[in-house]
Amino acid sequence: MKFFIDTAKVEDIKKANDMGIICGVTTNPSLIAKEGRDFNEVIKEITSIVDGPISGEVKATTTDAEGMIKEGREIAAIHPNMVVKIPMTAEGLKAVKVLSAEGIKTNVTLIFTANQALLAARAGATYVSPFLGRLDDISTDGVELIETIADMFAVADISTEIIAASVRHPIHVTQCALAGADIATVPYGVLEKMIQHPLTDAGIEKFKKDYIAVFGE
Ligand code: E4P
Repeated sequence: MKFFIDTAKVEDIKKANDMGIICGVTTNPSLIAKEGRDFNEVIKEITSIVDGPISGEVKATTTDAEGMIKEGREIAAIHPNMVVKIPMTAEGLKAVKVLSAEGIKTNVTLIFTANQALLAARAGATYVSPFLGRLDDISTDGVELIETIADMFAVADISTEIIAASVRHPIHVTQCALAGADIATVPYGVLEKMIQHPLTDAGIEKFKKDYIAVFGE
């Protein structure tokens, strides 16, 4: 399983990219709004940092296929690495069909059932994004959904990649990897927690103390 970072905060994207742990970025309208910056300006900056798929979503106020197709073409024109993120609706599927026929990569977002993922794949989606954390929030097993989609895609030999989204903690990451997600898109805070372990810190301290006791600073 590969990692994308799920944020529009460029400082966090730089930090994760410098560690070599991510190969792409996902954003959404809430994450862009959180930064309070112009969409095109942020996205261009992100493309200059990460050399991999960057998902930029159509405007939250655009709900018709025609509008999503127009915006999708504009997003794709920003940089060759751009992926157009489109919500899982009937209009969204129409937009995915047109954009994918033009060779534009798409990421169908807000997936909450395996059937939605299958439909998105059949419409031509490059990626599907099942939101596991939001399912867990309503007492439904999000990881089980990832597993079902992975099994379904394997049975039908579907090449659409599964991005486990709405990842909330390190255990989600392990579970998604085992469930067969191709990618997990992870907030910076979760990546940080994955790096840390108290025994690693204690080990570093002990090595330092033992070394200094014999060789000095
Ligand atoms: C994914 O593409 C979404 O941007 C994101 O994972 C949503 O996560 P949330 O449910 O924590 O907002």
